[in-house]
Amino acid sequence: MEILRHVVVLVHLVGFAVLFGAWVVAAFGERRFTRLMTWGMVIAAVAGLALAAPWGISYELNYVKLGVKLVILLVIGALLGIGTARQRKTGTLAPALFWSVGILTFVNAALAVIWR
Ligand code: HEM
Repeated sequence: MEILRHVVVLVHLVGFAVLFGAWVVAAFGERRFTRLMTWGMVIAAVAGLALAAPWGISYELNYVKLGVKLVILLVIGALLGIGTARQRKTGTLAPALFWSVGILTFVNAALAVIWR
């Protein structure tokens, strides 16, 4: 069980890496949302929800932190959804939408690592 949990944590980190990595590449190039960002978010979300249940651990989970991370993830999802749709329709993406997704993703990773 413990090994399986570690594998799910690894998948969660891959999702984070894909979402944030794709965003960093875009930040230094054409500032648009890409399919990779959405895929990374979905992977991080599915693995994160699986990790939010207390299995394969001998300590208490911090549910306040997990709740905050979930709310932030839902905001990231909404921004990616709205931005991708507008991008498709108008061909442009508002800078506020683009930067918010990167900053909120970074904030969620920071919360995960710093808030114990
Ligand atoms: C874009 C959104 C997210 C990002 C960038 C993110 C990032 C991270 C990172 C970097 C870690 C590793 C931290 C460490 O091991 O010290 C982590 C762990 C974790 N995340 Fe997330 N996360 C996100 C969303 C979520 C969501 C929505 C949930 C569940 C509600 C969640 C639940 C967890 C749990 C339970 C762990 C600890 C795993 C363990 O050690 O057993 N994450 N997250």
